[in-house]
Amino acid sequence: MLKYFLFVTLCIAISPAVSCQRVSIIPQPVSVQEGQGDFLISQKTMISAVDKEDVKTANFFNDYLFKVYGFKLPVNKKKAGKYIEIATRKSTAGPTTNTYTLKVTPTAIRLNGDTYDASFFGVQSLIQLLPVQVSSSLTVPAVTIVDSPRFAYRGMHLDVGRHFFPVQFVKKYIDYIALHKMNYFHWHLTEDQGWRIEIKKYPKLTEIGSCRNGTIIGHNPGTGNDSIRYCGFYTQEEIKDVVSYATDRHITVIPEIEMPGHAEAALTSYPFLGCPGTGPYQVQQRWGVFKNVFCAGKDSTFQFIQDVLDEVLTLFPSRYIHIGGDECPKTNWKSCPLCQARIKEQGLKDEHELQSYFIQRIEKYLNSKGRQIIGWDEILEGGLAPNATVMSWRGEEGGIAAAKQNHKVIMTPGSYVYFDHSQVQKDDSLHIGGYLPLEKVYSYEPVPKELNEEQGKYILGAQANVWTEYMAYPSKIEYMIFPRMSALSEVLWSPKQARNWSNFEPRLQNQFKRYDLWKANYSKAFFQGKSQ
Ligand code: ACM
Ligand code: ZN
Repeated sequence: MLKYFLFVTLCIAISPAVSCQRVSIIPQPVSVQEGQGDFLISQKTMISAVDKEDVKTANFFNDYLFKVYGFKLPVNKKKAGKYIEIATRKSTAGPTTNTYTLKVTPTAIRLNGDTYDASFFGVQSLIQLLPVQVSSSLTVPAVTIVDSPRFAYRGMHLDVGRHFFPVQFVKKYIDYIALHKMNYFHWHLTEDQGWRIEIKKYPKLTEIGSCRNGTIIGHNPGTGNDSIRYCGFYTQEEIKDVVSYATDRHITVIPEIEMPGHAEAALTSYPFLGCPGTGPYQVQQRWGVFKNVFCAGKDSTFQFIQDVLDEVLTLFPSRYIHIGGDECPKTNWKSCPLCQARIKEQGLKDEHELQSYFIQRIEKYLNSKGRQIIGWDEILEGGLAPNATVMSWRGEEGGIAAAKQNHKVIMTPGSYVYFDHSQVQKDDSLHIGGYLPLEKVYSYEPVPKELNEEQGKYILGAQANVWTEYMAYPSKIEYMIFPRMSALSEVLWSPKQARNWSNFEPRLQNQFKRYDLWKANYSKAFFQGKSQ
C-alpha cells in the first residue's frame, strides 16, 4: 500500500499537467506523443471500417465495449461526424514490421496498421486509452502512438492435462492473450494424467485416456487421494471452434502432443504403445515424471503417432507443432529388446540417441506435411533434429546452445517465466514450489548475453508456461498469471530501452483496474508489499 500512496502523491505533486494516468498502456508503446484535448466516444460515434478484416477488428472493439461498458457502436463503410477509423494500410513495400499508428484528436480516432495484425494490436492500445471507470460516454485522450513489437513470438502456454479447463475458459484465456498484444497460444493437450483431444481413429484415447480415477490431495506425493473420477477432453468440433476464435484474435494456436514421455494416458488407452512387459498402465493420479513411455522400437508406435498427427494437422493450421520431448525416462528402453534392436539397427550410441532418432523420425514426417516441430530443450540431447525449434525451459542453456547451432529458439526458462511458481515468498495457496515475483518477470531479457548479434536473431521470443498440477480452477489460473503476464507482455513487445520498472509501476495501477473490469482474479501481492 505504501508504494501506491507514494506513487499517487508524487504523481499529483510532480506532474499535474501531464496527468499520470492519461495514457497508461501495457505493454509500453514504442512512441507516445500526448496531444491537446480529448475525443469523446458516445453511443452514436461511428466506426468506419471497409475491409472485411478491419470490420472484424472493429467488431472485437465493439464486443469489448459491450462487455465492459454495456454498449456497442455502429460500424459503417462511410465516415460521418466524429468517427473512429480502422483502416489497414496493407503496405506491400518491403518486409512488414507490424507497425500501427493510432492518432486520437478531438475530432477523430484513426487507426492504421501496416498489416491486419498490426491494426488489431492497435485496437488493444485504443482499449487501454478508455477510462477504467464504467461510463456511457468515454473520454479518450488526444495522442499519437506509433508502435510495433520487438519479438515475433509472444506466447502463453496452458496445461490442460493435469487439470482440464472448459472451452469457455480457454476462450477467456485467449482474450487475455489478445489484450496483451501477445500472439501465440501453446495448448498442452496430452499428459500422463489425461489425454484431452478427440482422435477419431483411436477413440479409446478419450474413452479411457481422458479420465483418471482420483487425484492426490495436497503437494506431491500427496497426503491421500480424493478417489474422485476426473475426466475431460475437447471434441474436434470444440477444437475447431477454439482455433477459429483465436484466429479472429490474430493468435496462432500451437498444439502440443507429448512424446516419447508424458504419454501414460495414451499407453493406458492402447497398451501396445508401451515397451513389452512394462504394464499395467494407468492414467496417473499424482504429479511428476513416469517411466512408462512410448516404445521406440515398434513401428506401430510411429504409425499411431503419425495417425494422431494427421488428425491434429487438420485441426491446427499452425506452421509449428509442438512434439514435447521433455522428461522421458530411459528405464523401459534400456531393458526393452525392441528398443535395443532399434539402437543396434540404426547404429545409435545409447538411449539418448534413440530419443533423438524418435524426434527426428517425427520431424521428418511433419516436415513432409509442410510443418515444423518445436520441442523442449531435451531434444538437444543425442543430436538436434535438423529443422527443430527449441523451447528452452531448464534455464537458458538449451536456448543458447540451439541458437549457436543456428536453430530457432523460444525462451521459457523456469526461473523467469514459470507462472506455476509462487509470486509471494510465503504463499498460503498450494503451488509447485519456486518463487517468481513480478519484478523478476519484468527484469527478464530473452536474448542471452552469451549470444552475438547474429545468433541473437534466432531467439524468436519467449513464453510463460502455466502448468496446472496446483491450478484446478480458472480463478486460480487468473491468480497465477496476473499481473505477471502483463509484465511479460512488456518484456516481449516494448523496445529494450523502454523497459523501466519505475515507469511500469504506475501503469500497473491502471492495469489492476482493468483486471477488475474484466472481472478477472489476480494476485494482490504486489500492493501488499509481499513481493519484495
Ligand atoms: C517442462 O516443464 N517439463 C517442460
Ligand atoms: Zn521399447
